[in-house]
Amino acid sequence: MENDTVEVIAIDGPSATGKSTTAKLVAKELGYTYLDTGAMYRAVAYLAENGELRVENSLNLNEIRISFDKNNQILINGVNREGEIRDPKISTVVSKYSAMPYIREALTARQREIGSGQPCVLDGRDIGTVVFPNAKYKFFLTADYGTRAARRLLELQAAGKALGETLESVEKNLRERDKADSEREIAPLVKAKDAIEIDTSHITIQQQVQKILQSVGEVARCKHSLGATRTG
Ligand code: DC
Repeated sequence: MENDTVEVIAIDGPSATGKSTTAKLVAKELGYTYLDTGAMYRAVAYLAENGELRVENSLNLNEIRISFDKNNQILINGVNREGEIRDPKISTVVSKYSAMPYIREALTARQREIGSGQPCVLDGRDIGTVVFPNAKYKFFLTADYGTRAARRLLELQAAGKALGETLESVEKNLRERDKADSEREIAPLVKAKDAIEIDTSHITIQQQVQKILQSVGEVARCKHSLGATRTG
């Protein structure tokens, strides 16, 4: 499944732990492609909710084109839908769609295709456990609920999508999604045994990025010297 010569950095964890901002910066620093797999699930939820996609029994990915522009904003059938997929309405329903086996199967296949073709940083829930279980580098980000809710509310305010939202309503959605994502049967949100856990509650984004870049360097050095020992 995985081409060993291609570098995959898997960054998993619950939402609002800083995964996507961190992953984007790590990818930029290393010159890797960044893939936001949560945005792909959000895209499917958006289309299904708007009656543009039937997802009862199967998901035909040929019916939809999901891609990203150079600013990592999602394009659905060529149209920028970044604002729409981040709407709290989509956050409320996305777990329902991401638990459907045929949706996971189709999106996982697409994510493998993208990640196998080029050095890539992918963030999501199941990258290190299911999509790329042999990824060279795996991280699992966590943070306490207070910090996560505050971060998510600030993001919504910045995007003008916080109408009617409070810290309490945002935290409620985070808790509900964590429960649904962790308890689903297929590819649940769980830390891979070999992932490095980073609690982001009290560190800055720059510190998160530095920790990951440092660990990538250490793991790379360690794997390189193990390889040298074995072949030497
Ligand atoms: O990271 P996010 O909040 O944008 O993700 C949206 C939803 O998609 C989240 O509730 C769980 C789901 N998801 C998933 O099941 N597997 C992934 N690899 C990424 C996201």
